[in-house]
Amino acid sequence: MDNNQPIYTGKAKSVFRTPVPGELKVVFRDDITAFNGEKKDTLAGKGQYNARVSAFFFELLEKNGIPTHFIRMEDDKTMIVRELTMIPLEVIARNVAAGSIVKKFPFKKGQLIDPPVIVTDYKSDEHGDPSINDDLILALGFLTTEGLREVREMTLKINKILKDFFLNVGITLVDFKIEFGCSGDKIYLGDEISMDSMRLWDIQTGESMDKDVYRLGTGDVLSVYGNVVEKIISKK
Ligand code: C5P
Repeated sequence: MDNNQPIYTGKAKSVFRTPVPGELKVVFRDDITAFNGEKKDTLAGKGQYNARVSAFFFELLEKNGIPTHFIRMEDDKTMIVRELTMIPLEVIARNVAAGSIVKKFPFKKGQLIDPPVIVTDYKSDEHGDPSINDDLILALGFLTTEGLREVREMTLKINKILKDFFLNVGITLVDFKIEFGCSGDKIYLGDEISMDSMRLWDIQTGESMDKDVYRLGTGDVLSVYGNVVEKIISKK
């Protein structure tokens, strides 16, 4: 088998087989996209920033009892991970109203959501990532009742760990999206946790420190991402 050919190519990451069964290689590319790929750019160094932040949070979560796919970094933008069968769900936790929830429901941007809410989308470009509920998830066989409970509990725990961490470095964790997968009958956190998949606001200024800067074209994305890396690493 040719391990140089990706087995999966996403919008910002490529996944490769490795010589080790059960281990995959994830390369964080420098590509950035928004609006389902309608806006696209390549920003040299961006892959490295997201890979480093993801690795940092996977390690932090593992230390706090969350099973993740993270094994080790091979280089600054290449992560070795456990092979999972991915569950086609985007699980989103929200602490503050922003983005799509403000468009769909009568929340005001910036409104505190406490206790946090978890919403779930079906991950499918073909279907436009529609919202999905527990009954549909069960009917489609994506998770069992027990699996649903586990994903919810893990997501709330991850939210608490990340939110507390960010608070300590002067950042509000507004919301984030995570994805899970299975190996055997165990559920692991997969994918990534990065500035592409979280909304982060500077506590002092309220400024965005995440992909919204790119989506809305409000500033220099690379320097914003670099700033987040610096804050996280300086805290280490
Ligand atoms: O767009 P929306 O407000 O629903 O996004 C909620 C959170 O999930 C944001 O942090 C966003 O960056 C993330 N997200 C993502 N990938 C998607 C959809 C949302 O990382 N496909």
